Amino acid sequence: MTDPRIIVALDYPDAASANRLVARLDPALCRLKVGKELFTAEGPAFVASLVHRGYGVFLDLKFHDIPNTVARACLAASRLGIWMLNVHASGGRAMMEAAREAVEHAATPPRLIAVTVLTSMNQPTLAEIGVGDTLHEQVLRLARLAAQCGLDGVVCSAQEAPMLREDIGSDFLLVTPGIRPADACLDDQARVVTPAKALRQGSDYLVIGRPITQAPDPLQALQRVQAEILNTLSRTSQ
Ligand code: C5P
Repeated sequence: MTDPRIIVALDYPDAASANRLVARLDPALCRLKVGKELFTAEGPAFVASLVHRGYGVFLDLKFHDIPNTVARACLAASRLGIWMLNVHASGGRAMMEAAREAVEHAATPPRLIAVTVLTSMNQPTLAEIGVGDTLHEQVLRLARLAAQCGLDGVVCSAQEAPMLREDIGSDFLLVTPGIRPADACLDDQARVVTPAKALRQGSDYLVIGRPITQAPDPLQALQRVQAEILNTLSRTSQ
């Protein structure tokens, strides 16, 4: 079975526009990320339709609530047959452990990963909510806690990936947005890395939106990133 490393971000307002893209992609080459906008607009039936079409789905809803509520939400999400879902590590140990136990009850348990510190936050905004540690210390603290709670990995920037890979070890999944092929437009991303560099930094899965979704030929853009990934993986395994 293939394990596509590319997760295409379906940042669309409705199913019709998302479906126009999905019809041009290939589930053997990518997985799909459904976030709060599309899920709120189209709901679980749309997610189930992607699963039915053979796609691995990362349901990016970043649950953060009391343990019982998060556990029940994770179980409901798992029943859709998704491949991955996430929670906020700042919800704490009891919440993450409850989430992990809930997904284990699913027929095919999805990967459960955590968000550490949102990349929209910086040192002053962390201080404003009472976090005195540096950004890196806080990312590391929350990633370690997620690992201790039995979560499968975290979402992280490629800059954080080497530190997390070294600290937590090789079994921990690192899922990385902010990816731009060398010739792509930055859009609103400030710090980007190429697919090859993200893999070399230790990322397992790459979240890629506009370089694929806005490309004149999305399948060709996907195939080009896939070729770069295969090339990098074959070099690193030599
Ligand atoms: O279009 P682009 O490749 O920038 O899309 C990246 C996707 O990854 C978007 O869905 C965005 O919300 C998400 N993301 C991100 N940075 C994070 C976490 C998630 O860009 N730190």
